[in-house]
Amino acid sequence: MSLLPVPRVAVIVVAAGSGTRLGAGAPKAFVGLDEHTILRHALRRVFEAPPAQVIVVAPPGRVGDAVTDAEEAAGERRDLVSVVPGGATRQASVAAGLQAVWPDVEVVLVHDAARALTPADVFARVIDAVEAGQDAVIPVLPVVDTLKRVDADAVVEAVDRSALAAAQTPQGFRRAVLDAAYRGPAAEHTDDAALVQAAGIPVHTVAGAELAFKITSAADLERARGLAEPIAPVGGATPGDPVQPALPRVGVGTDVHAFGGEGALWLAGLEWPGEQGLHGHSDGDAVAHAIVDALLAAAGLGDIGGLFGTDDPALAGAHADVFLARTRERLTDAGWSIGNVSVQVQANRPRFADRRLEAERVLSAVLGAPVSVSATTTDGLGFTGRGEGVAAFATALIVPR
Ligand code: CTP
Ligand code: MG
Repeated sequence: MSLLPVPRVAVIVVAAGSGTRLGAGAPKAFVGLDEHTILRHALRRVFEAPPAQVIVVAPPGRVGDAVTDAEEAAGERRDLVSVVPGGATRQASVAAGLQAVWPDVEVVLVHDAARALTPADVFARVIDAVEAGQDAVIPVLPVVDTLKRVDADAVVEAVDRSALAAAQTPQGFRRAVLDAAYRGPAAEHTDDAALVQAAGIPVHTVAGAELAFKITSAADLERARGLAEPIAPVGGATPGDPVQPALPRVGVGTDVHAFGGEGALWLAGLEWPGEQGLHGHSDGDAVAHAIVDALLAAAGLGDIGGLFGTDDPALAGAHADVFLARTRERLTDAGWSIGNVSVQVQANRPRFADRRLEAERVLSAVLGAPVSVSATTTDGLGFTGRGEGVAAFATALIVPR
């Protein structure tokens, strides 16, 4: 249950068009700017704007996809967002969205999903102007090109551009005004301001933004792709990982510990009675530590030193389960599931042949994913060959949740 006040503003994001002019093989709002759709990018800005009920109007066949984008963009404010199926025209889609506006809402903004990069401050300006008493407000940009009135290929006259402006969205209205306009005669208009104006309501302007351009053609899409900022991962961004997970990722981790520690040997999550222990602040389990590093590296979450301080008393003598469970939690929080892990031990002792399956079971259980353990000697070469210590090499595959 949310204890936040019910917003008095609603934003209807129309995303039900087919994108005929773009011709990208999918409804326009579901075409990717990067690994995220045009709709997801548009909604990111909507949720950066002042709090509002958000209604996404989706093509009837893409409601499920729109819900995914909407919930991801809403994060903890999922209670604010809903998705409704749109109509055959933009106007019909807006009308469908209006049906879903909550009773307490007093200001309604209508926004094109196709204006995916519209900055949040444009929303704020439109809302402020309506709240200050205007019935209808649109963001505009001055026209920069020299304009001509033409008849086929003949120029009829020059047009004074100082009297013209390019209209953008979000367009904001006092709710009662927009409701009334949509209840009136159903002549088609290209935007909501035109519909409201046809009903005799004066429309005012605020400053729009270059970034609020509408993605209409393939060239617009290229421009938007160049300008889109990556969306941070679910569960919060971390340094070095600014991009929302979309593809599986792999990571590699290694660790080495010398024999000679106090107490029993712990390796691969198992205790090995009768074997010489390993040095290390914790139990020196090089296999577990290599796995932790592989997983953290795959997720771009740093390394074992960053996640587990050597001065943490809770970790003195801690075994693999503590390290691996905490690592798994960290990945879950960042939006990742573990696909599988493969780890190889290089050591003369202990002999893994008899306990390999047991080690795999223990490690797999704590990670909730298959862990394969293999072991090899190094033909008497190096520190492992001389029996001075143990080395472990791990590879991890992780997938977006
Ligand atoms: N829109 C809508 N329902 C429709 C038509 C359009 O919700 N039946 C939305 C589009 O999804 C877009 C906005 O209105 O966000 C502006 O429309 P436009 O740029 O014309 O998009 P499309 O109609 O999808 O594109 P096209 O005209 O090229 O087919
Ligand atoms: Mg259209």
